[in-house]
Amino acid sequence: MDKLIYVNGIWTGEHLEKIKVSNPATGECIGTVPNGGRKETREAIDAAYKAFPEWSKLTAYERSAYLEKLYDLMIEAIEPLAEMMTLEMGKPLAESRGEVQYAASFIKWYAEEGKRVYGRTIPSHVNHKRMIVTKQPVGVVGAITPWNFPAAMITRKLGPALAAGCTFVVKPADETPLTAIMLAELCERAGIPKGVINVITGKAAPIGEELLTNPRVNKITFTGSTEVGKLLLKQGADQVKNMSMELGGHAPILILDDADIDKAVNNTLLAKFRNGGQTCICGNRIYVEAGIHDEFVERFVRAASKLKVGNGMKEGIDIGPVINRQGYEKIDRHVQNALKQGAKCVLGGSGIVEGDTYFYNPTILTNVKPGMIIMNEETFGPIAPIQKVNSEEEAIKFANQTPYGLAAYVYTENYAKGIRIAEKLNYGIVGWNDGVPSAAQSPFGGMKQSGIGREGGTEGIESYLETKYITVGL
Ligand code: SIN
Repeated sequence: MDKLIYVNGIWTGEHLEKIKVSNPATGECIGTVPNGGRKETREAIDAAYKAFPEWSKLTAYERSAYLEKLYDLMIEAIEPLAEMMTLEMGKPLAESRGEVQYAASFIKWYAEEGKRVYGRTIPSHVNHKRMIVTKQPVGVVGAITPWNFPAAMITRKLGPALAAGCTFVVKPADETPLTAIMLAELCERAGIPKGVINVITGKAAPIGEELLTNPRVNKITFTGSTEVGKLLLKQGADQVKNMSMELGGHAPILILDDADIDKAVNNTLLAKFRNGGQTCICGNRIYVEAGIHDEFVERFVRAASKLKVGNGMKEGIDIGPVINRQGYEKIDRHVQNALKQGAKCVLGGSGIVEGDTYFYNPTILTNVKPGMIIMNEETFGPIAPIQKVNSEEEAIKFANQTPYGLAAYVYTENYAKGIRIAEKLNYGIVGWNDGVPSAAQSPFGGMKQSGIGREGGTEGIESYLETKYITVGL
């Protein structure tokens, strides 16, 4: 499947060098996309810039109608979108179907929310003035999106940006450009005017540089690693670019003595092994209070041992491939470091490498200590390290000992304790007896080095709006 880039409503890039897209489960080439560079990115930005006056002039109701149409088309296309996603990034087909619905929910929710972008009037301190606050779209948005959620991480940005009246240039991850292109095809079919959405594929550096330095781009929105986020923040500093950053995480899971074990086991399975552990909010380290530790470990191991690893296109697979060799090597480095320092492997502990494909078995480690790499760095794989703790206070102390602050999870049946712990955790998202907290209507984002700003919910559209204060002298 050979695809083109989408600029100003035209499919183009036939003349450019082609980049191969491969299936991480088989190593096969599944298609090609053009290697767009600075020139193509500049053309896309110019198209978005020219489309902005007309698009932003539409009423929220008119923009909503386009988004509703896009939503319907995405729901009709669940199957082909899901298959494409599994082919290019490996997650099991059932999870891909779930992701398409999750992705579409952002389009639907912001189709509605765009109608509720309210300003306000402020009581004046003098009789001869009136004070008004209005909102207006920021302008052209440059979006850089990751491979782990090839559709949802685009629509979580696209939905609010378009609803707010912004126009959009997206650079999808090198690993998953085909899903992004399919979304652009649906935007075209929904009749979204030319230039409002543009997709550029190619190497990250030149495309990123153009997005970050072109003065016509008013906002950058990025989902990816903290390391790359820091680089983008530096690149955008000269123009004081408006930036939203959804960066890495190192989510702790706190399981207290009074937890409901069924809830803790089932939700931790999801929080840890969803997408093969390759999400920013995946539980990365598990702290279990001594009184419940052994029972939790036994039941968690029993449940995780049923998970099947393999090609996500096949029936019954729970964990697909690791995205690439670097990802695999990092996972294995974390496991080997923990084992060398005294961790005990109670499940898995090894990978499967065949040619250019990399899989890792669901792995559970106990007797884990705070200094191990896995307790400090994001693993992005199906590894669950468990550390025994002696109290709620100790669990909170370890949980907060990190520069990350994206998501944390706590299991307790005691209401007062749950609230107390949730308030003390320095994280943007806390799942209390809930391993899958994400939803279109809820704010998603991190504290500390996990990011700037929030996506989803009412907060998510604010990122694409400027606040204007108008004072009127009578
Ligand atoms: C992410 O990994 O960044 C997204 C996870 C989610 O939306 O649940």
